[in-house]
Parts: sequence; C-alpha cells; structure tokens
Amino acid sequence: MIMERKIMYSAVQPSGNLTIGNYTGSIRNWVTMQEEYDCFYAIANMHAITVKQDPALLRKRTLELAAWYLACGLDPEKCVLYVQSQVPQHAELTWVLNSITYVGEMQRMTQFKDKSQKHADNINMGLMDYPVLMAADILLYMADYVPVGVDQKQHVEIARDIALRFNNRYSETFRVPEPIILKTGSKIMSLQEPTKKMSKSDENPNACVFLADDKDTVIRKFKRAVTDSDNKIAFSEDKPGISNLLGIYAAFTGKTVEEAEKAFAGTGYGDFKVAVGETVADVLAPIQAEQARILADKEYIGGILKAGAERAYKAARKTLSKVYRKVGFYTGD
Ligand code: TYM
Repeated sequence: MIMERKIMYSAVQPSGNLTIGNYTGSIRNWVTMQEEYDCFYAIANMHAITVKQDPALLRKRTLELAAWYLACGLDPEKCVLYVQSQVPQHAELTWVLNSITYVGEMQRMTQFKDKSQKHADNINMGLMDYPVLMAADILLYMADYVPVGVDQKQHVEIARDIALRFNNRYSETFRVPEPIILKTGSKIMSLQEPTKKMSKSDENPNACVFLADDKDTVIRKFKRAVTDSDNKIAFSEDKPGISNLLGIYAAFTGKTVEEAEKAFAGTGYGDFKVAVGETVADVLAPIQAEQARILADKEYIGGILKAGAERAYKAARKTLSKVYRKVGFYTGD
C-alpha cells in the first residue's frame, strides 16, 4: 500500500528583519519536516501590506527572506518555496472564504486587536481579513499540519473552523489542519519587556535579536536584557526575563529548560547572559555567512521562486476549481 505523504504549510511575512523567534518558532522546524512531508513554505507578502510597507523595501526583504529560508537549510528539491502574491488563488479563495466568515469572529482575534491599537490610524479591511487570507493559504494546499509559534495558534484554529464550516455547508472539500507548536522556542519574548513577544516590528532594536546581528551585537543585547534582581537562575512565572533567557538557551542547544537550569545553577546573571549570547551568536554565524553568499546570486533565488510558484500554482488551481464548482460558480463547461 502506498502511504500518502502528509502535507505541511507555513509562511513568514517579509515585514521586517527576522528575529530568533521566527527561527526557533518556525523556520528551523520546517527544515526537519521537509524530509518527511510534502511541504509548501511561502513568503507572505500579501499579509505584509496590511500594515504600511515601503514598496522598495518590501521587494528587497522578499529576496532576503528567500535567502534566509535557503540558508537555514530549506532545500528547494524537497519543498516548495514561493512568494504568496505570485499565486493568484490565495486572493481568490480568500474571497470565497470571506463569505462564510463572520465579522465578529475577526474582530475578536487577538492579533487584530493588538495591531488595531498599534496602528490606530490604519485599521484597514486587510488587517481584519488577515486570518481569512491565512486560512486560504493553508486550505489551498490541503495542509495537514501548520508549524508555527504560539502567537499564530489562534489563526490556525480559525482556519480549522472555516474549513469545517465550508465542508458542512458544501460537502467534504478541505482537510482540517492542525497547528504544530514545539515545546521550546515557540514563544520567545522581548528582551526589554519579557512579558511581550519578541516581534520583528518592535521599534526598540534592543528588544529583538535579529538573525542578521553580529556576535558583538547579540552579546550586547543579551547583556542588556531586562531581568529581576534576585540573582537565581530558575524558570518561573514571576521571573519572565530569566525564564525567557533559559528558554532561548534551551532552544539553541537542544537541551531542556531543566537541563539549562542545572547547567547554570550558581552562576551570576552577568555571566549567564553572556553565555546565552555566545551560544546564540555561534549558531547564527554560519547561517549568516550562507545567507550572504546566497543573496549575492539574485538569479539563483529568482529561479527557485519561479519554479516554486509554478508548483504551488498547480496545487492551488486544483483546489480552487473544486471550490468554485462546490459554491456554484459558472465555470463554462
Ligand atoms: P510572522 O511573520 O509574524 O512570523 C513567522 C513565524 O514566526 C513565529 N514567531 C515566533 N515564534 C516564537 N517566538 C516569537 N517571538 C515569534 N515571533 C514570530 C510565528 O508564530 C510564525 O510561525 N501570519 C503569519 C504568516 C503566515 C502563515 C500563513 C503562517 C501567513 N500565512 C499560513 C502559517 C500558515 C505571520 O505573520 O507570521
């Protein structure tokens, strides 16, 4: 019997420089999954324009992100890498799904509420519709699994609800996806406000460690990380700063948080912060060198994205034509 391979879908927005949270919560896990699953990994530039972007910078970041994907170990022979806007079915399926999604559901989304506060002068329809576009991304490829960080869990859950609703209304069509959230590294917090997630759009550069930061910068940021003052290296809810550093260390070494606690028992905060910084910087260094090498060859990246878009298009077209038939759109045949 031929076992059908499971399908994996995920994406990152080219809306800022990648942080170590994007890496440990998401991209790094995609690499291991490409061996076992049929994977589609997109650059979500249509999501990115729901907040203001500089057009030239958005285009530049799209290529940079593709180079990071490759540098982190994604293999275009093993997975489909493409840019969301190059596959028109994402927008088309969004329109159909919009008609079975309620305004109230979208207004209740945590990220919509946060971003509406942050961008009070630009609460646009796209921002509210963002989870529907994300559902369209996932459902177009009949994904079984969606590897994401904790902050995207609610969006994968609404994609499940939308899939089930469509199936109930129009008969079995979509697979109902499941989020994959790993134990370590799926919720890296800001180094300056450790009760807030580390975000690539944070205005304070000391709050984030970027994948592109050099060793001195990484260590300086960790040295300045906000912690408590009791000088005890332990994971606990009332010590968000130290707990975050332990989590980062665990995510970058493959150790558990308990092992990390043991390794640093009796160490002072200063030395601990430097050790975490060095560990992170040493993992990033070879990835950075590889990213710079790949980015220098724009033609190579362009070729991969073109081939990726063609493969994605084929899969997406199949799903969309099924959907159009189910909802009763005239197809001319
Ligand atoms: P984005 O670009 O905000 O983040 C990309 C991925 O990184 C994860 N992540 C984190 N993980 C751990 N700690 C953090 N501090 C941290 N910050 C971000 C996110 O959870 C995400 O997995 N809407 C998505 C992109 C998207 C998508 C999709 C994802 C578009 N379509 C379909 C999955 C499936 C987003 O804005 O991710």
